[in-house]
Amino acid sequence: MLTRTGSMRERIAMYNDNTLKIGVFGANCSSSRTATQVPERWSASWPDCLKLARLADQAGIDFMLPIGRWKGYGGLTDFHGSTFETVTWACGLLAATERITVFGTVHAPLFHPLIAAKEFVTADHIGEGRFGLNIVAGWNEGEFEMFGVAQRDHEARYEFAEEWIEVVKRAWSEPGEFDFDGRFFHLAGVRAKPKPVGGTRPIIMNAGSSGTGQGFALRNCDAFFTATSASRSSLEGTAKRVEEVKSEAAKIGKDIEVFTIGQVICRPTLEEAKAYHHYANIENADWGAIERMMALRGITPQNTKPEEYAAKRQFFASNSIGGYPFVGTPDRVAEELANVSRAGVRGIAVCFVNYLDELPYFCAEVLPRLARMGLRENS
Ligand SMILES: Cc1cc2nc3c(=O)[nH]c(=O)nc-3n(C[C@H](O)[C@H](O)[C@H](O)COP(=O)(O)O)c2cc1C
Repeated sequence: MLTRTGSMRERIAMYNDNTLKIGVFGANCSSSRTATQVPERWSASWPDCLKLARLADQAGIDFMLPIGRWKGYGGLTDFHGSTFETVTWACGLLAATERITVFGTVHAPLFHPLIAAKEFVTADHIGEGRFGLNIVAGWNEGEFEMFGVAQRDHEARYEFAEEWIEVVKRAWSEPGEFDFDGRFFHLAGVRAKPKPVGGTRPIIMNAGSSGTGQGFALRNCDAFFTATSASRSSLEGTAKRVEEVKSEAAKIGKDIEVFTIGQVICRPTLEEAKAYHHYANIENADWGAIERMMALRGITPQNTKPEEYAAKRQFFASNSIGGYPFVGTPDRVAEELANVSRAGVRGIAVCFVNYLDELPYFCAEVLPRLARMGLRENS
């Protein structure tokens, strides 16, 4: 365990020496990342989030990454219909924990950067340097309409986000008063105190999947999230992807950590794990919500051949709306997580159908295996 002074190195290491960082993803949203109707699906209630944070903190999980979501996707369960705003959620969890890094996931176009910068500083002080920022430029039209905010075209979205994060960083670092005169913001006589803990700043990450999104992450962030696969056959592809991101970063004199996402269903036998994955993700899928998410990404029965549409629909359900399924015994899940690490990925944010039911088994069985492989400290 590192001592905590809030240095940038410590923040990026999440205050420990784990080679592979493990986080929980999406716990602030009802049903988390699995569009399922099973009765045990994640409630995302405050008592459950609080219990989860304490459990994860004590077990040595490195971070919690929430989803910035404002409007449910409909379907029988109104998937993501109930969500907590992520920075206030992070404040509550940081106050209740000691080690874990908690992110806020923030849509730049919906928050004034000076209010946002101050909220982040507040969270960072509550957590004594454990707050992290996941910045989202925006992609979901319906959500923006709800705020009466027009979505900019794709390039302009990231140009705006770039200026937005520049204002946030200046508010975090400028010792005195400053003016800002950009394309989107014209700010006079800005003062912002206190600064983040340790005279540094929260770790920043982004998960853009386009070239523009990746470029933005390389210039402005410490970590970049990308979808990968952990199967042996695709290990090479993942390693290549990590290498590509790192070498692009090196070209502009930056170092960036690559993270990925996944769903974990870990059971004593492979048969049990597979059966539960099929039961939760396929047999009880909330197909209405899945089809709506596909439509938001431009995949509809109208523009896609029937067999292709059916295959994509199955893939979306099986992969928990985008994330490799780690399904199997503790040995298998640990081996696949180790594959991700061997490919150069620094960390992974995973979801469970029900975190409180499933995380204890994962922590008891998988984390020690990863420690024995030298990928994590004993927690
Ligand atoms: C790990 C991960 C987390 C994300 N979190 C959110 C989120 O909470 N809210 C959101 O609207 N989009 C989220 N996204 C979407 C991305 O920020 C981004 O908008 C999307 O990948 C499209 O990429 P592009 O903007 O480069 O086109 C996430 C994506 C990933 C892979």
